[in-house]
Amino acid sequence: MTDIVNTEQAAAWNGPEGAHWAEHNPADGGFNAELTAPLLTAANIRPDDHVLDIGCGTGETTRLAARQARDGHAVGIDLSAAMLQQARAAAEAAGLGNVAFEEGDAQAYPFAAGRYQVAISRFGIMFFADPVAAFANIGRALRPGGRLVFVCPRSMADNDWYVVPLSALHKRLGTATLPESGMFSLADPAHTTDVLTRAGFSEVTLRPLDAPMDFGADAHAAADGYLGSGPVLAVLEQPGGLTRATARDLLADALRPYESPDGVRIPGGHWLVVARRPTENLSARGAHRPRPGR
Ligand SMILES: C[S@@+](CC[C@H](N)C(=O)[O-])C[C@H]1O[C@@H](n2cnc3c(N)ncnc32)[C@H](O)[C@@H]1O
Repeated sequence: MTDIVNTEQAAAWNGPEGAHWAEHNPADGGFNAELTAPLLTAANIRPDDHVLDIGCGTGETTRLAARQARDGHAVGIDLSAAMLQQARAAAEAAGLGNVAFEEGDAQAYPFAAGRYQVAISRFGIMFFADPVAAFANIGRALRPGGRLVFVCPRSMADNDWYVVPLSALHKRLGTATLPESGMFSLADPAHTTDVLTRAGFSEVTLRPLDAPMDFGADAHAAADGYLGSGPVLAVLEQPGGLTRATARDLLADALRPYESPDGVRIPGGHWLVVARRPTENLSARGAHRPRPGR
């Protein structure tokens, strides 16, 4: 096992949250499936590319990348053993011979330097304790000129899928505002540009991307999907808080207005972020070194 520096994240994604995600986000078509096509279009993967998928989860985007990089290969890295187990099984079932999965922390994993032309991520890069160190580590894995392409949520206010169900629970608890979440750590475009620049990337662009999130066939299925998510587990763990049954009813009531013939679809606002590892020698500029105290 390689170094894990994001130990809380590793515990969550290897514990109930990861198991729940693996169950409710099947290997294909998870809640953020609408983000896949824009991500892969921007990644522009070529047949002989080597692709790294950060926080790959159950590996849908890794497998799609491997299909595009048919003469190259795709590697997914994730903290969660349970999710990687599904990812490997799905790749094997699909008969993909050019895909592999690594269990590890992308912030510290000893990637082969300059191995990949493209690094992608669908919602797997918001949870780093030290984002500059993490993106610098990912940058080292890229060839000079290589591309980093990811999607992440914009602000909480842009994401009804997060705010609406959680507010229903917090309102019942008497909490005035929702607690901050690592989910939105890259919401501020100036901050994200600064992080990526300090990590050694250049040509950073952020494009708003609005796409609904899918939460299952009806409000009860959607409520079950939310019940084991990190933010809802945090509510359920509060002493004297809500029972699971009450939380499920509150979630279902909040989600019912979003029921449609296509299932429960709730608006989401995201960034599509593209950056490049410069072609010049970064270490000569010290660009990978995080600033002290940050
Ligand atoms: C919201 S899920 C997204 C999973 C997948 N990309 C998808 O779209 O279905 C976030 C994933 O990032 C992974 N993750 C979080 N921090 C990580 C880290 N430091 N290194 C590797 N994976 C990480 C988690 O284990 C989890 O699978």
